[in-house]
Order: sequence, then structure tokens, then C-alpha cells
Amino acid sequence: MATWRSMALLFLFLHLLPLAAMADKDAFVGFNIGTALSDMPSPTQVVALLKAQKIFHVRLYDADQAMLLALSGTGIRVTVSVPNQQLLAIGQSNSTAANWVARNILTHVPATNITAISVGSEVLTAIPNAAPVLVSALKYIHAALVAARLDSHIKVSTAHSSSIILDSFPPSQAFFNRTWDPVMIPLLEFLQSTKSYLMLNVYPYYDYIQSRDAIPLDYALFRPLPPNKEAVDSNTLLHYTNVFDAIVDAAYFSMSYLNFTNIPIVVTESGWPSKGDSNEPDATLDNANTYNSNLIKHVINNTGTPKHPGVAVSTFIYELYNEDARSGVVSEKNWGAF
Ligand SMILES: *[C@@H]1O[C@H](CO)[C@@H](O)[C@H](O)[C@H]1NC(C)=O
Ligand SMILES: *[C@@H]1O[C@H](CO)[C@@H](O)[C@H](O)[C@H]1NC(C)=O
Ligand SMILES: *[C@@H]1O[C@H](CO)[C@@H](O)[C@H](O)[C@H]1NC(C)=O
Ligand SMILES: *[C@@H]1O[C@H](CO)[C@@H](O)[C@H](O)[C@H]1NC(C)=O
Ligand SMILES: *[C@@H]1O[C@H](CO)[C@@H](O)[C@H](O)[C@H]1NC(C)=O
Repeated sequence: MATWRSMALLFLFLHLLPLAAMADKDAFVGFNIGTALSDMPSPTQVVALLKAQKIFHVRLYDADQAMLLALSGTGIRVTVSVPNQQLLAIGQSNSTAANWVARNILTHVPATNITAISVGSEVLTAIPNAAPVLVSALKYIHAALVAARLDSHIKVSTAHSSSIILDSFPPSQAFFNRTWDPVMIPLLEFLQSTKSYLMLNVYPYYDYIQSRDAIPLDYALFRPLPPNKEAVDSNTLLHYTNVFDAIVDAAYFSMSYLNFTNIPIVVTESGWPSKGDSNEPDATLDNANTYNSNLIKHVINNTGTPKHPGVAVSTFIYELYNEDARSGVVSEKNWGAF
């Protein structure tokens, strides 16, 4: 009986490869910890909040020593980042990369469970001058992990803005801005050969605002839509019930356009602001709570997306605290969930 069942499963998996390979684990929800607060809680206080809220995955925007020490022994999985300011130096020098890994990773593992390194944040759109060295930076960091035999445990990737995806609806027609092909193609080759994943920041809030009412609020907030309001991709006939899935599928289609069909996606940022100024009427506490709680349900249910149902799309919510010290419009300072 058991054998029959495992054979049936084996058949199913072989049949669905390479998707089965992508679906090898359950999706998780984590939180980003931005630190632009005028009164930043101490690392011990941060960890106390994480434990109280049963948050087991976090992403940091750097590799802060005190924070990594406070996280040691907690079992909390940590994604650390190479800050954008350090990217040029690391991408130009193997030994600078090796020093970064020695100082920020080797001193903390295994006590602190570092599971990924995000090498830069939205580099192509935020600091395009560093784009030519982005893939080298990932390779140098990875080489240092290989030398320390940590490469199977710690994944190396880089977080992208979803704005590098053009024509994102219908998702089947999406593609990465061709300007970045000389970076994206070697990057995807690297992610594939190291069994890493594409890191993507997904903000239905901005798509909703920029659409000027073309996107219904319910569709952005994962609220049920009447069937005649669901967005249908006319090429694939896939039905989209929320903006989040449409963006993630646009990324899968953009990768397959370049012939990469087996790279999983982890959403490194997603959220909704709880407060905005007068021209941001949908930045409300109610909408933020609705978005985040529906997002969590969607992710931990392993729903996947219409293109890849059941394939885990782990997601880090942006973010743990409001960052009152950030510049910009009111909503910029009000993405915190706690
Ligand atoms: C560290 O995280 C990995 C990946 O989630 C997990 O498999 C491993 O058990 C964790 N180790 C500890 C000591 O918690
Ligand atoms: C870069 O450094 C790693 C060790 O950190 C080493 O294994 C690798 O050979 C070096 N690569 C180059 C191109 O120098
Ligand atoms: C593609 O990227 C380039 C470089 O950042 C930019 O100038 C261009 O506007 C982008 N294309 C579109 C259609 O957004
Ligand atoms: C993808 O594969 C197809 C079929 O093998 C090929 O014609 C096409 O040129 C490839 N595209 C890229 C971007 O490599
Ligand atoms: C959970 O996943 C199942 C399919 O596995 C789907 O039918 C259901 O709608 C999902 N629920 C939520 C809340 O996403």
C-alpha cells in the first residue's frame, strides 16, 4: 500500500518536474527589520518581540553585529544583506568579499541561523552604476561560502524591484526590461547553478495607486471578487484573484522568457502602509491589517500562484516597525506591523 502510494507520488513528481523540485518545502512568512527609527528598540527587545509574536524568519538590511548576536541561539532564520554602499567594493574584489563573509557571517554561524545573503537591494533601479559588478559580487560572496563549506546552507541572491518587469499584465506577456539582459541572464544562470532563488519585492499598493482605479482595491487586498471581475490572462486563461499573484507570475514568465523555468521565487518585501497624507487615502490601518493578514493566509496555505499552484512563495512582510526617521511622504514612514 505504502509502496503503491510512493510510486504514485514518484510518478506525480517526475511528471511535474522541475516544478516538484521547486515545491520541496512549505512557504514561510517572515518580517523585514528596518532600523530608521528615532527610538530603535535594542536588539534584545527586537528578539523579545519576535519570540512573543512567533516570528521565525527575519531579513536584515545589513549584517549588524549586535542584532546577529541577539538572534543567536534563538533558531530564528536570518537573511542578512550586503548594503548597497558596499556593493561596488565587493563586486570589484574577491578578497573584499571574502573579508565581508569572514567578518559578518563566519563569526556568527552556526549560533545564528543565517540562511541567505541578499547582495544589495534593488540594485538595478536604485544604484544602476553598480549593475556591472552585481553578478561578480554574488559570485565572490558565494566563493567565500564555498571555501567555508557553508554554500549549501546559505543561499546567495539579490533583491529586485518588481519595476524591472515590464508589461506585467497579462503575466504571460511580462519580460524583464531588456536593458538588464546582460545582468539578468548571468544572474539567473548563477541562481540556477547554485540552487538559489529570485528575490523580488512585491508591492500591490503601488500598482493599485498607479493604476488610478483600474485595479479594484479588493483585488489589491486579496478580498473576494465576483467571478466576472477576476482578471483573466487571455493567453493562458489563468484567473487572477489578487495583484500579488499576478506580479509573482509575471516574474516567473519573465524568467521563462529567458529560458529559466526552475528558479523559485522568494518575496523579500511586501506590505501596505497604515497611514498616509491626504492624497494617499488608501493608506489606512484597516487596509494594512487586511492586506497583511490576507497575505499571511495566502502564503502559509502554500497556495502558490495560478502559474505554479502549490509552489511555495515564502514572503517577508515589509516591515516590523514603522520607520519614523525615513524621508519622503507620510506613507513611507508607516509600513510597520508592530
Ligand atoms: C536553520 O535553518 C535551516 C533552514 O530553515 C533549518 O533546516 C535548520 O534546522 C536550522 N538550524 C537550527 C539550528 O535551527
Ligand atoms: C575568490 O576567493 C575564493 C575564496 O574566498 C577562492 O576560492 C576563489 O578561487 C577566488 N576566486 C578568484 C577568481 O580569485
Ligand atoms: C528600462 O531600464 C532602463 C534603464 O534603467 C530605463 O532607462 C528604461 O526607462 C526602462 N524601460 C522602461 C520601459 O521602463
Ligand atoms: C530559449 O530557447 C529557445 C528554444 O531552445 C531558443 O530558440 C531561444 O533563443 C532561447 N532564448 C534565449 C533568450 O536564450
Ligand atoms: C488554500 O489552498 C487551496 C488549494 O490548495 C485553495 O483552494 C484555497 O483557496 C486556499 N486558501 C487561501 C486562503 O488562500
